[in-house]
Amino acid sequence: MPKNSPTPYLLLANIGQLLTLRGQGAPRRGLDLQEIGLIENAAVLCGGGKVLAAGSQRELLRDPWVRMNRKKVKELDCQGRVVIPGLIDCHTHPVFAEPRLVDFEKRISGAGYEEIAAAGGGIRSSVAVVRQSSRGELSKKVLMALNAMLEQGTSVVEAKSGYGLTLEDEIKSLEAIRDAARQWPGEVVPTLLAAHVVPQEYAGKADEYVKKVCDEMIPLVAKKKLAKYVDVFCDRGAFTQEQSEKVLATARKHGLGTRAHVCQFTSAKLKPLLEHQPASFDHMDCVQPEDISLLARGETVAVLLPGANYFLGYKEYPDARRLIEAGVPVALATDYNPGTSPTPSMPFVISLACTHMKMTPAEAIGAATINAACALRLQERKGSLEAGKDADMAVFDVKDYREIAYWFAWDRCAEMVVQGELWV
Ligand code: NIG
Ligand code: FE
Repeated sequence: MPKNSPTPYLLLANIGQLLTLRGQGAPRRGLDLQEIGLIENAAVLCGGGKVLAAGSQRELLRDPWVRMNRKKVKELDCQGRVVIPGLIDCHTHPVFAEPRLVDFEKRISGAGYEEIAAAGGGIRSSVAVVRQSSRGELSKKVLMALNAMLEQGTSVVEAKSGYGLTLEDEIKSLEAIRDAARQWPGEVVPTLLAAHVVPQEYAGKADEYVKKVCDEMIPLVAKKKLAKYVDVFCDRGAFTQEQSEKVLATARKHGLGTRAHVCQFTSAKLKPLLEHQPASFDHMDCVQPEDISLLARGETVAVLLPGANYFLGYKEYPDARRLIEAGVPVALATDYNPGTSPTPSMPFVISLACTHMKMTPAEAIGAATINAACALRLQERKGSLEAGKDADMAVFDVKDYREIAYWFAWDRCAEMVVQGELWV
């Protein structure tokens, strides 16, 4: 429930540090990723769910309209805290029913993620439980995750299906996302990930499964408007380059956007995949040098998911420095899922990006806001605090924005404003 009854105007006053992330409507690259648009002693005025003004408090309070209408405006005293755009989690897999504790313990005693998957664990074990679950049960789980995300500063979430792997169960998963999204104040971007792995019943018949994805699942999902994007897991143990291209080409033919899990375990050839104009390439642990320069010239965002490296106990992380310095637009996301990254926390991911990928706190926040908005092609409305954009903000109970990355695994998000309304 909102904390207040809807008010047409809301003023966030006494902001110690406001990170506006204002600037171009394009993804931040290279040195630009450091530009967070910091304003001290700031205020933000919201109206009709949008930002009306964001800037120095002294100037904003001098505005004739504000002076005349002060009584109509509800005020939130930020007490010198830090305000940033609502965080954008641009890669999650929230439609699952149970944690994967057996896999977790197997990995602790030395088994690898791919080894467990090959033995029938991994993604396939989550599939069995999702198939047995009802749409209502799944949507409760999705909503629980969305609420945990909101509490930690996230106001936009990309949510994938991918643990159903039949026409009915993928539709059920996307409907569960839609049902949960309707009960959540933030924005949810649904993605069909029917090409997550080859399901058990198609073992040895991957091409047949891809045909089913292309001939039945994508067309029906597009017709029912249940997804905005189609994703594919293009890697060893999942789908080949050729199969992945088929999936992405079909998505485009049906008017859906594309994105892909690539280069998590093995490097894919990105050039042919780029033909399908993906909004993002996600994971990017082992990308080839020639592909880095290719990405630097394009609009596809590299979404890095250090939560997965952390949870799988890897020593290596995606080479964020190399990507940023080459001019590739980089975003961050949780990859919330039961196998490799069961965390809803973007602040934790921001912290990991700093400690393990050597991104600065400013870069990590840019990657989790404006660049994440670009990864979902929502940059016209989301990801920065500028007049006309959606009034989505996270108030952190810290004095300096760098503390968001510093206090790891400590939820310092104190208030959320979503489309101009205050939430817990
Ligand atoms: O992004 N790589 C593929 N998919 C997920 C893992 C899913 C799972 O293990 O359940 C990921 O890490
Ligand atoms: Fe993923």
